[in-house]
This record gives sequence, C-alpha cells and structure tokens, in this order.
Amino acid sequence: MEKTLKTERIDLLQGDYEKGVQRAAQILREGGIVAIPTETVYGLAADATNDAAIAKVFAAKGRPQDNPLIVHIAGFETLYEISADLPQSAVSCAEKFWPGPFTMVVKSSGKVANSVSAGLQTVAVRMPLDNAARDIIAASGRPLAAPSANISGSPSPTSARHVINDLDGLIDAVVISQDCAVGVESTVVSFAGDLPRLLRPGAVTLEQLREIIPDIAVDTAVLSEPEKGAKAASPGMKYKHYAPKTETFLIEGDSKDFTELVNQKPDCLAVCFDEESEKIRIRKICYGSANDGKTLANKLFSVLRQVDEIPAKAVYIHAPSKNGIGLAVYNRLIRAAGFKVIVL
Ligand code: TXA
Ligand code: MG
Repeated sequence: MEKTLKTERIDLLQGDYEKGVQRAAQILREGGIVAIPTETVYGLAADATNDAAIAKVFAAKGRPQDNPLIVHIAGFETLYEISADLPQSAVSCAEKFWPGPFTMVVKSSGKVANSVSAGLQTVAVRMPLDNAARDIIAASGRPLAAPSANISGSPSPTSARHVINDLDGLIDAVVISQDCAVGVESTVVSFAGDLPRLLRPGAVTLEQLREIIPDIAVDTAVLSEPEKGAKAASPGMKYKHYAPKTETFLIEGDSKDFTELVNQKPDCLAVCFDEESEKIRIRKICYGSANDGKTLANKLFSVLRQVDEIPAKAVYIHAPSKNGIGLAVYNRLIRAAGFKVIVL
C-alpha cells in the first residue's frame, strides 16, 4: 500500500497523558486507525462496530481477509454485550486472568462488525492490563479490534519505534508509550468447541490454565506445522509469521551441540542464550538466559528484527524449553523458521 497518510504522534510519555488518551479516542470514534500500546505487543486499533474502520486495518497490515481480529474491552459489561452463551469455564478464566495477556474465543452475539470475525460465528475477546490501553478503550466508548501493529508476516512490534518502522504513513496515529512488558502476544483459548482448546500460547501459561480448566486441549498448530488444506482452529496460526528475511533455522539440543554446530558456519549468525555466548565464535545475538523464559519472551521480537540488520547466509536460533512462557517463545520461533526445526 502507498504511504500517503501523515501519521500523527500521540506521545503519552512527554506530552499530556489525559489529552493524548482523549485524542486517540476521538480518532477511533471517527473511524480512524491508531496504534496503541498493550502489555503484550502494540496493537493497531479500530472501532470493532465499524466495518469501514476494520477494512482500513486489514489494508494497512496487508492482512489476509480470513484471519479474524481480537476485540479489546475495558470492562466486563462489554464481554456480555458482544458474546453469547458464555460457558462458566470462560467466565472463570476471565475472572482469574483479566485484565491481562489472555484472550478467549466465544460465541458472538453479532454486535461487533462481521469483518472482525472474518465470517466466523465466534469472537475473540481480551481485556488488556496496560493502563493506557484500557484508558483509550474506555474513552472511545467502543470495543476496539486490534491485531498486532506490524506488517502481516513480520515480527510483532514491542515498541513504538517498531510500529513506526512498519506502518508510518499507513495509519492515522501512533500512541507513544513504554515498550511492551511481556513482549509476546496474548494466550488464546477457544471456548467455542466441546472442550476448551489452547490455540496460541502466551504469558498466561498452560500450567496456569490447567489449574482452572484441567480438561484443556492443546491445538496441534501450537507445536507443529498445520497440515496443508486443513481447516485451522485459529486462522492466524497457519501462516508463516514473525520471519526475518534471512533464512532461519530453529535448533533443539544442548549447549554443547548447538555451539559445535554454529561454530562450523562462519558466514552465519547465531541467536543464543547468555551462558553459551563466550563459546560461540561466529556472530551472535543473545536473547537471555536459558532458564529465564520471561526475558527470552521480552527480547524475542526485537531480536528477530535485529537479525535482518546483520548480513548473514542464515541464522541458527537455539530453541528454549517448552515449559511456562517458553512454550510461547517456541511457538513463535517455529513460525519464524518457517517450521525448519533441526533436532541435534
Ligand atoms: O496480545 C495480543 O493478543 C495482541 C495485542 C495487540 O492485544 N493482538 C494480537 O492480534 O496478537 P493478532 O491479530 O496479531 O492475533 C490474533 C490471533 C490470530 O492468530 C487469529 O487467528 C486469532 O487470534 N483469532 C482471532 N479471532 C479468532 C476467532 N474468532 N477464532 C479463532 N481464532 C481467532
Ligand atoms: Mg499478529
């Protein structure tokens, strides 16, 4: 798309916070699209009841039309307006994990625009923890649909700078606030089928979910490539995603094997854990300690963006453990690698 808009900067850090919130809300009420901070990643927000505004979001991101959007709300009353037949298990999860990095897919009441759900009978709903996000939603008086504020397929944005790099000139405004505290997108659980089903792992972990809904199923797309032509439970998970332009491989194995492999590849780049850095003799980027999943998640997307600034024949990323938030990091990395996983 041609970059023809003058993207307004709404700075909540240096400017007047309340004025900034009101300005973002005004643009949203008028049908504009605004990048807003959340605790997970920056979102590209639009009024979820306005089909024309939603169409602008799909166009700016270059997003496939069959990939539905998450609706962001500031209070429980909106959940009851936009959903129907809520099961008790969904209500229990919302009470436990909201506000926070947790999204639930439930039956839609038909209140949000059809294009938000990309023709499905369900709607994905989340109440974010970030104060600015909730203040902007409340001030707009609308539920806000907000996919990650990146060009479709590229790593999700965890800072206002990432948003500007991708979308300057394509959106009406960007709200400038702190970098995202979590760094990976919300956990998505569907309550629309027989059993609750994890569609996308995030900072609300599978272990935490099992305490509330012990019968939760894990969708096969969480850990492996969806079969070609199969109907995806979560359309977003079927795409190659988060991918650097450099050819990317995900490597499973211990530190010794990983180090040996990459040291034979002088033209390549390694993305490694802090503690193995010293032994790696090729160019490298560290993304945290192997047993500190929160830091790995927090650095993941900026590291994937950094990869393309270093010319290399290929990049080899050391896979984290799949426990806790590590499952979310692993899930994003197999997509960044286009499902090219090497087990040592
Ligand atoms: O943390 C987040 O969730 C961020 C911030 C901005 O809130 N948003 C985000 O949106 O990650 P997006 O559009 O990048 O990812 C939404 C995911 C996609 O995988 C999509 O397919 C899935 O949620 N999804 C949305 N509505 C759905 C539905 N009705 N049924 C199944 N999956 C759905
Ligand atoms: Mg996204």
